Amino acid sequence: MLLPNLKEARKRTDKEVKIIRDEYIIPDNIKNIGKNKKYHVITYGCQMNVHDSENISAILEDLKYTQTDDVDNADIIVINTCAIRENAHNKVVGMLGRIKHLKETKKDIITVFCGCMAQEESIANMLKDKYKWVDIVFGTHNIHKLPIYLSDLYKEKKQEIEVYSIEGDVYEGIPVKRDSKYKAWVNIMYGCDKFCSYCIVPYTRGKQRSRLPEDVLNEVKKLKDDGYMEITLLGQNVNAYGKDLNISYNMANLLRDVANIGIQRIRFITSHPWDFTDEMIDVISKYPNIMPYIHLPIQSGSNKILAMMRRRYTKESYIELFNKIKKKIPNVAISTDIIVGFPGETEEDFKETLDVVDTLKYDLAYTFIFSKREGTPASLMKDDTSMDEKKERLARLNEKVNEYANMNNMKYKDKIVDVLTEDYSEKEGYLMGYTDTMKLVNVKASDEYLGKIVKVKITDVKTWSLDGEVCE
Ligand code: SAH
Ligand code: SF4
Ligand code: F3S
Repeated sequence: MLLPNLKEARKRTDKEVKIIRDEYIIPDNIKNIGKNKKYHVITYGCQMNVHDSENISAILEDLKYTQTDDVDNADIIVINTCAIRENAHNKVVGMLGRIKHLKETKKDIITVFCGCMAQEESIANMLKDKYKWVDIVFGTHNIHKLPIYLSDLYKEKKQEIEVYSIEGDVYEGIPVKRDSKYKAWVNIMYGCDKFCSYCIVPYTRGKQRSRLPEDVLNEVKKLKDDGYMEITLLGQNVNAYGKDLNISYNMANLLRDVANIGIQRIRFITSHPWDFTDEMIDVISKYPNIMPYIHLPIQSGSNKILAMMRRRYTKESYIELFNKIKKKIPNVAISTDIIVGFPGETEEDFKETLDVVDTLKYDLAYTFIFSKREGTPASLMKDDTSMDEKKERLARLNEKVNEYANMNNMKYKDKIVDVLTEDYSEKEGYLMGYTDTMKLVNVKASDEYLGKIVKVKITDVKTWSLDGEVCE
């Protein structure tokens, strides 16, 4: 048993990152354990977790399990968790209750708990003491060892917890079963070294480690050959890509080289404003296959709060960057993340956030109430704003955010846009997909248009989506 340790997780040394290519192995005793059995993976959290779950699914399929959408029908259930806010925790605890009930009726079900919550001391201890029926617990650094843990479970039949609180390495060659045939996630870096004072990610994911350019580029080439039309480059702070490598190669270089491979649509998330360079803006504006959509989290409009958050930019420098991006990248859409109710946020600080939203008129904003994360500096800061007050601020902010989302969407009325139709819409007779600017569109179209970039005329506009019909 190896339990996590937040103090260890915080450490950053100059230990060299290893690129490990041969550590994924399948022990002989479990080669076919999944034959005639089914797996179900439940995923919470960000795109990185979604992509990790694609790895987990592929590993289980290597063991001959087949996928089921029905948790009640599964022989192995994996919960891939997120620790970013308290409500993410609550959802997982609720799900654990449901699975416990299942396990009482079907004793042989194997239960696996992984992801960012597993990296938290209090959670791992809780699983050890109160959830002994959870068979396997591992963290974000050792997904590739799932076959080993299953093999051990078959031999020893007891709970196995192995969570590393380390800076981490880069693992190549872990299989992946992609959810979509048209768009794919591509990790370009792992971890985060920014240590924003409220955020748990640098503790749950380790230090920033960039993948080698050739590994990223080879993956993208293969995706293109396999018929993928869109890729999203993933990292907590993609603009800092390459800074940890001993080569002079940065995010602008990577974007250029990925664009030259010729895949039709390239996206990237998330961009921390701190590392956004002019060179990147130039590359994005120059290549038509780099999509004009940027997620640029501001978090707060108050310089006092930004400093307490350790975001390393000011309201003024953020607005300058925002305007530069708008000016240089034609038709660009920009979205953001905002936290309300950070410790010490006064009504005046909050009004500054509202002012910035009024000035920048975001296409979309994801808004959150500050959530205390154990082990982070912000969790120790004095916080005397009541939850009612915070909820009221969130509602006021959301009202504005919705107003501008709607206003930006209105510009699309009667316009013709390109949509990659990636799936069926919930609306009968419609497909769904996104514009280059990441607007969700429900397209009235038959199946033959699925998985294509189609010209769509926008017929109706809502706050969160557009309706349209094929016009070619
Ligand atoms: N790496 C990204 C953010 C990843 S987390 C970036 O720096 O931009 C996604 C969002 O969750 C953050 O942008 C922030 O708005 C929110 N968030 C993170 N920690 C939080 C906390 N403790 N309480 C509330 N919101 C939080
Ligand atoms: Fe968290 Fe900040 Fe890193 Fe984003 S940049 S993951 S908010 S510490
Ligand atoms: Fe959540 Fe971990 Fe992502 S905390 S947001 S799943 S990096």
